[in-house]
Amino acid sequence: MRGLLIEGGERLVGEVKVSGAKNAALPLMAASLLVEGPVVLENVPHLRDVETFIQLLEGLGVKVSWRGKGVLELDASRLSGFTAPYELVKAMRASILVLGPLLARLGEAKVSLPGGCAIGARPIDLHLKGLEQMGVEIRLEHGYIHATAKRLKGTRIYLDLPTVTGTENLVMAAVQAEGETVIENAAREPEVGELAAVLRKMGAWVEGEGSGVLKVRGPSQLRPASHRIIPDRIEAGTLMVASAITQGNVLVRDVRLDHLEAVVEKLRQTGTEIKPAGDQAVRVIGPARILSADVRTHPYPGFPTDMQAQFMALMSVAQGLSVITETIFENRFLHVSELRRMGADIRIQGPSAIVQGVPYLSGAPVTATDLRASASLVLAGLAAEGDTVVTKIHHLERGYEDFAGKLSALGAKIREVEVDEAAG
Ligand code: UD1
Repeated sequence: MRGLLIEGGERLVGEVKVSGAKNAALPLMAASLLVEGPVVLENVPHLRDVETFIQLLEGLGVKVSWRGKGVLELDASRLSGFTAPYELVKAMRASILVLGPLLARLGEAKVSLPGGCAIGARPIDLHLKGLEQMGVEIRLEHGYIHATAKRLKGTRIYLDLPTVTGTENLVMAAVQAEGETVIENAAREPEVGELAAVLRKMGAWVEGEGSGVLKVRGPSQLRPASHRIIPDRIEAGTLMVASAITQGNVLVRDVRLDHLEAVVEKLRQTGTEIKPAGDQAVRVIGPARILSADVRTHPYPGFPTDMQAQFMALMSVAQGLSVITETIFENRFLHVSELRRMGADIRIQGPSAIVQGVPYLSGAPVTATDLRASASLVLAGLAAEGDTVVTKIHHLERGYEDFAGKLSALGAKIREVEVDEAAG
């Protein structure tokens, strides 16, 4: 089994470049299903999730090719299927993103029900309810959602929760619905904004991204488009914490600070210096003594749930007590038991983790359980005394492009190792 060996205690110094946003790349790849002709995406990160999505699209008949580093061309001129199979949906829940565009393009889609996942139940009821309101007939059979629509009709949809992929699915379906669709309590994440921008480039009428009310008018005659994907705000935030936790001095390039306001605010409370440094770059200087700060996760523009585990690693070595409350996913504290094995003092009380900072963590063998949990263990390993070995790193590779390589270039002692299965 592969693992990452981290010899802790090195201060990170230097420059690092953030990759393109995974959570923008996936819906944009899904949007290629809407168009006959090549859609070209630039700044696409090389990630396991992107590879899985390529496999999914190829299974539907999309011709996908890399046209150089980070440039992906997707041509859905001829589709040959409408099914997202169990194996792929199980590997990546974001596979659900083909549902909306397939309905818009073909009037039919079959997507395996995602089932349980490590960080909680993560239902898709709001995706389905919204589609039904647009005239889609949904049947659940043999573990699959079978959705059909003779015609999609524009309507008013109120989302009980501002679901990100749910909003994206509904917008993509709505571009081919007749009349106006209004999505209220829509997700405001920048990645939803990216999708809206690209749909406009394709010729769709979409407005209101970022406001919580999205309006789409259809149907549209769509054309191919090309687009450069925004930097990944979660990778940027993770690298910023890496600098903070190692008393580092790191220039993070390709970062959109306007997408990271809640994270920057919290990091400043910990004593971390964050100085904008020209166009899309920021210098992050870790404090000699990390101060504690409480955090509550919220939908954008609040503090992202995808940064909660990494922030907890930082709070593990802060001075004093912090309360970290997770409001988005009910079981997103899987990293806690592993951080505890490294000496962190964390208690869970309902949706909150009470973190009493300790003077130091001690390196240990730990197991990654999900994408962001694995990042938090790597961060803890950077700060810990001695060696940490993180196993099940395929979770990390789902969402971080060359994470070990980037940290290593900043001076971290981190490398991939083979670990005896029994020891992991
Ligand atoms: C997206 C992100 C993920 C991030 C999450 C929250 C992608 C590919 N993934 O996931 O990285 O952690 O947003 O920021 O963009 N919910 C329902 N019913 C639904 C849909 C969602 O109850 O039909 C609930 C979920 O259980 C959760 C909340 O809504 O409590 C938000 O989930 P959602 O925004 O849908 O997350 P994803 O889109 O799956």
